[in-house]
Amino acid sequence: MKILITGGAGFIGSNLVRTLHEGSLLSADELVVIDNLSLGRREFIADLIDDSRLFFYEQDLLDAESLHAVFDKHRPDLVWHLSANSDIGYGAKFTDWDLKQGTLATYNVLEAMRRVGTKKVVFASTSAIYGEATVLPTPEDYGPLFPISLYGASKLACEGLISSFCHNFGFQAWIYRFGNIVGKNGTHGALVDFIGKLKKSPNRLPVLGNGKQAKPYLHVSDCIEGMVFGFQHANEQVNYFNLACPGATSVTALAEAVVEAFGTDTQIEYSGGTRGWVGDVPQVRLDTSRMTSLGWQARYSSDQAAAKAVEELMEQMAPGV
Ligand SMILES: NC(=O)c1ccc[n+]([C@@H]2O[C@H](COP(=O)([O-])OP(=O)(O)OC[C@H]3O[C@@H](n4cnc5c(N)ncnc54)[C@H](O)[C@@H]3O)[C@@H](O)[C@H]2O)c1
Repeated sequence: MKILITGGAGFIGSNLVRTLHEGSLLSADELVVIDNLSLGRREFIADLIDDSRLFFYEQDLLDAESLHAVFDKHRPDLVWHLSANSDIGYGAKFTDWDLKQGTLATYNVLEAMRRVGTKKVVFASTSAIYGEATVLPTPEDYGPLFPISLYGASKLACEGLISSFCHNFGFQAWIYRFGNIVGKNGTHGALVDFIGKLKKSPNRLPVLGNGKQAKPYLHVSDCIEGMVFGFQHANEQVNYFNLACPGATSVTALAEAVVEAFGTDTQIEYSGGTRGWVGDVPQVRLDTSRMTSLGWQARYSSDQAAAKAVEELMEQMAPGV
């Protein structure tokens, strides 16, 4: 099988590329990675780039002509589409950013697939499409879907495009609505933010909101295992799942875990308010029973995933601390 991964030098993408390269969960004859390195890092997959089975293209998905050339050359059997803007705040400042990096880039990928006859796509969506859901834990069939961030709106539009390509052109899709993903190679999110801040100034940790925001944290290894499991065991035309663990971890618990790992005498200072930023959904709980019924559940609880990620990120981001 030839697998093309977009965003393969990013946080989740680099972990996925490494797992697929090892072949323990799913074996691939050829791995094609496209990433413009705007948010990803070459170093995450640098040791794999010389492998004869792996082809890396530093390329922008918005350059449709170059994208089509990669598809013409490799004619993948499966696309794992992970590329997107992961900086939600940036998307709120530059209002066409998610539209371009999310929706338009996704259209380009789907159209490139259609042109060469690639029919299978795995897509990284998000719980942000649910907006401020009134049903917690939120099941996949919750509605109406009214996202409150431009990022969430873009992802919802992507799901619509994917579903339409499935029905018009015989595609098959596996859409995963992630909670928060944490672990090695993380470059954004609360844990990375806290570790970065404490490295600069160990005595005070400014935290956005009142600290009571709580979301499910899934370890990146579970995220990848779950995506592969769903791909192997669900066979509808459009398969869609919440991918998370049950329960949630509060922002205060995350901040305290990071402070404890640093071992410093740190004052945690809250900016106040129930949400961290405009577009932030303060309380997220995801109903994971569909993945459980399929036969998969996360190995780590939300608290365990956060603790493991703190260890991994401290090793990567704060050597010697
Ligand atoms: N990390 C999470 O908690 C989380 C939660 C929900 C959904 N997701 C989704 O999962 C996917 C992966 O997220 P991540 O955390 O690894 O983010 P990330 O930013 O680390 O990875 C995204 C990758 O896409 C690349 N990219 C962005 N725009 C591009 C473009 N125009 N052309 C080519 N490459 C481009 C970036 O350089 C980066 O390497 C994203 O679609 C994200 O929206 C992540």
